Amino acid sequence: MAKKIAVLTSGGDAPGMNTCVKAIVETGLQLGIEVYGVFRGYQGLMEGDVRLLTVQDVKYLGNFGGSFLQSARSEAFRTPEGKAKAAAVVKKLKLAGLICIGGNGTLKGAGELSELGVNIVAIPATIDNDVYSSERSIGFDTAVNSAVNMIDNIKQTMSSNGRVAVIEVMGRHGGDIALFSALASDSNIVVVPEEPVPAADIIKRTVKLVKQGVSSPTIIVAEKQHDIKVLADEIEAATKKECRAIILGYMQRGGSPTSNDRILSIRYGVQAVHLLNNGSSTCSLAVKNDLLTTVDINEAVAEKSHFRSDMYALFRLLHDPK
Ligand code: F6P
Repeated sequence: MAKKIAVLTSGGDAPGMNTCVKAIVETGLQLGIEVYGVFRGYQGLMEGDVRLLTVQDVKYLGNFGGSFLQSARSEAFRTPEGKAKAAAVVKKLKLAGLICIGGNGTLKGAGELSELGVNIVAIPATIDNDVYSSERSIGFDTAVNSAVNMIDNIKQTMSSNGRVAVIEVMGRHGGDIALFSALASDSNIVVVPEEPVPAADIIKRTVKLVKQGVSSPTIIVAEKQHDIKVLADEIEAATKKECRAIILGYMQRGGSPTSNDRILSIRYGVQAVHLLNNGSSTCSLAVKNDLLTTVDINEAVAEKSHFRSDMYALFRLLHDPK
């Protein structure tokens, strides 16, 4: 039975991380396990920025976005010396295991740290939802809901002025936020990294929409796909309609977690502590067919896409039938 474990959040924060940490601390208490919080992710682990968490610390955290443990993208941890330092801290504190909450980079770091003898349970958490091995990462549902709320607002003012909107959402390597928010907000065009669309095609489709009588088309573009300010100018020139470029940015990443994200975070958190308590060796948690399961940590970070091509096809069927 584990006596002491620790939890950290790393990479981009995601709404639900706090809910997950709360569930971990509370489960630890039930099982007689001390749960330590590592502040600032792997950077804080290397520096020994670790302290015991009490139920009082996490009491009010269930509905707060961000991460009270704070997060970091640590360059130093990527080096062999950095990982050795982190492993030494785990050993010194006599931790039976570590729970690492984060996206692909976090899970990759967890896999490498486990090779130095640290027992780890990883939990997928990223608004981008781009951890290959899991259908759902903590934070995605909230980010999509926030994006949809903002897109709805933008559509109201754009349609009142007969303007075109080009809206950039987050997701550097994965188009889930763009695709799901475009579908839910009934937007007209979506551009995702998995199905890139050249600017000329976006412009052509927008002109066609305007000709068909759509007075205020909405175009959702995943970040890094296009310079949306340039694209908006080109659309304006081609359609002779005013076109606004709007970047939703970090507004999607903060915010109170949705009930779906809270429930997912609780499921992940409780399971992670029980796994460590039962002496499980390093793994990542994942959702498959809506059920919680464990996967090999290296499978979790395989650079494969779980892009929902069925959802993309559905969007095209609705908005761009050939
Ligand atoms: O957490 C994922 C993410 O929000 C991506 O969608 C985005 O590209 C990136 O993080 C931004 O990261 P940073 O916080 O380093 O600016």
